[in-house]
Order: sequence, then structure tokens, then C-alpha cells
Amino acid sequence: MKTRITEMLGIQHPIVQGGMHYVGLAPLAAAVSNAGGLGIITALTLGTPEKLDAEIKKCRQMTDKPIGVNLTFLPTVNSPDYPGLVRVIIENGVKAVETAGNNPVQVMPFFKQAGVKVIHKCTSVRHALKAEAIGCDAVSVDGFECGGHPGEDDVPNMILLPRAADELKIPFIASGGMADGRSLVAAMAMGAEGMNMGTRFICTKEAPVHENVKAAIVAASELDTRLVMRPLRNTERVLRNGAVDRLIAKEKELGSKIKFEDIIQEVAGVYPKVMQTGDMDAGAWSCGMVAGLIHDVPTVKELIDRIMAEAEAIVRKRLEGFLAA
Ligand SMILES: Cc1cc2nc3c(=O)[nH]c(=O)nc-3n(C[C@H](O)[C@H](O)[C@H](O)COP(=O)(O)O)c2cc1C
Repeated sequence: MKTRITEMLGIQHPIVQGGMHYVGLAPLAAAVSNAGGLGIITALTLGTPEKLDAEIKKCRQMTDKPIGVNLTFLPTVNSPDYPGLVRVIIENGVKAVETAGNNPVQVMPFFKQAGVKVIHKCTSVRHALKAEAIGCDAVSVDGFECGGHPGEDDVPNMILLPRAADELKIPFIASGGMADGRSLVAAMAMGAEGMNMGTRFICTKEAPVHENVKAAIVAASELDTRLVMRPLRNTERVLRNGAVDRLIAKEKELGSKIKFEDIIQEVAGVYPKVMQTGDMDAGAWSCGMVAGLIHDVPTVKELIDRIMAEAEAIVRKRLEGFLAA
């Protein structure tokens, strides 16, 4: 498939691996890029410019295809060294950045000057239009189904994607709930020019996470995620577990009085425990409703080849067949 996204990023297939804390490291990013998609390293997991520099170089040893870096702008007090991270991305000649969280207006001039393509991930049409206005090259439109932070508007992709298509001039990537060839064709039908997957890529052989994480997602259905932190306007879709149930009970009990300190036990420092140690009840960790569509742990190449073959069969046989009937 050739779209404005494949052309812009210099990739074979219109498939992107979204930034994922403690998952989007060199082995997964390289595997996705080697399989013809765009693999993305998650800058904040590395934390410092030095460590990000080393991870990009490690990834480059594993693939000669284009790779990207995710830069998430967090509403934290102790801000990471964003200027240093931006410098390392540019110095390493990375050609694409996925930004998320706050809009990337402050870093745009640096990336523009260096010819780095900026794909801003956002959860609403108004944020997508803002990204377009500040010069982003593309957006990833993340629907309510998505794992991670779906925003506060709760608009699912069946509405959000065609709304984005109606308003945007820059190309966009469908994100949230994407798992297979059906997702890709549906996203393209609604105006997207590629798809971004998070949760689905965790369940691959190359994803550098504990086997317990992959098993938990395979075992989960579309009913097993919960939204947490809505009272703090930092809504996150996570896989249900004991810690998440406790967190939700606190949210009910404390109502609008709740503060971040009240739930720190369930949300702080969780990712290394879950992703590296496989302690599945350590706290709340992001997972999409798409878990209900994930039943296996293939290699990344098997997954991407399967998606592309399925997408082609849907377009050429199923859809074409309906027209002929
Ligand atoms: C475990 C996990 C961690 C994530 N961490 C980040 C992150 O650090 N930054 C970010 O921009 N998005 C993050 N995301 C969101 C993904 O990049 C992607 O937008 C989302 O997973 C898409 O929805 P899906 O899971 O239904 O495919 C994360 C998602 C998951 C599942």
C-alpha cells in the first residue's frame, strides 16, 4: 500500500508502532521497522539524553530502516531534559518523531529545521487541527478505545476518524483498537492513511516485556479494561487488576476531592515492575480494549505480513465481491 504516510516516512507498509513506556525499546522498534512499518523508541523510558542516544544507536545496529522516537510531554513537576532529548534525536538523524501529551509547539522549530517529520498523537479533532496549525506533518488520531490516555471527550474511532477526515488537510494515522487487516481497511475507509498499534505490538515475540504481560493481554477480553484517573483529568485506559479495583474504589470514595497523592501507590513506579518483573498486580498499566482481538504472540514480521495479506484479501475479494453482486 502506498499512502501519504508511507511516502512521508519512507516505509513499506502503513503501520506504525506507538510509543509505549517500558515496551517501545530498541528490540521492538527495530523489529517493526525491519518488517516494513515504523518502529518507535519511547524517549521517556530512557529518561536522559545519554540513555536515549545509546538506545537509538542500539536500534540502528538492529535495523537500517527508518525508525522514530516518541516524545511524550507530561504534566509533571520534575520535567525531563526535553531540550537534551530533542538534541539527541536530531543528532542521530532520526527522521520521525511521535509527540504526545501537550502539543509540541515549543520543539517544532528545531525539528522543522532538521527536517524531522512530526506526527502528533491526539484524541480530538480540535487538538488535531491545532497540530496542523503549528506545522505538524501528520497526526495520529487516538480514539476512545485506545490503551493509554484517551483524553476526556470519549469519542470512539467510528466517529472520530471520519470527523478528522472532514477537517484535516494533513494525513492522519488511525490509532486505538487497531489489531488486524480489518482494522487497517476500516481505518483507510474512514479517511486514515495508516494505522498505529500499541497493545497489539506488546503481544509479539520481540516485545521486550515479561511473558506474564503477553499472557495477560491474550487472556483478556474487550471487557477487561477500566478507565482510571478521570477525576484528575488524566484519564488512562488500563487492564483491570487488584490495584485498579482499589484505585477505582478510592476514586468513588473521595470523589472530586481526590488528589494524585491519594493514588500514588497504584500508579507510581508501576511500569518496571509489570513490564520487566512480570508483577501483574503492581499497579495500573495501559492496555487497550483491543485485547479482545488479541489471541496469539507472533513475531512482528508474522503479524505485519498477516495484516497486509488480510487487508488485501478484504479489499480485493470481500469488498470487491459486494460490488459485483
Ligand atoms: C503499555 C502502554 C504504554 C504506553 N505508553 C505510551 C507513552 O509512553 N507515550 C505515548 O504517547 N503513548 C503511550 N501509549 C499509547 C500508544 O502509543 C498507542 O497510542 C495506543 O496504545 C493505541 O491504542 P491500542 O493500544 O488500542 O493500539 C501506551 C500504550 C500502552 C498499551
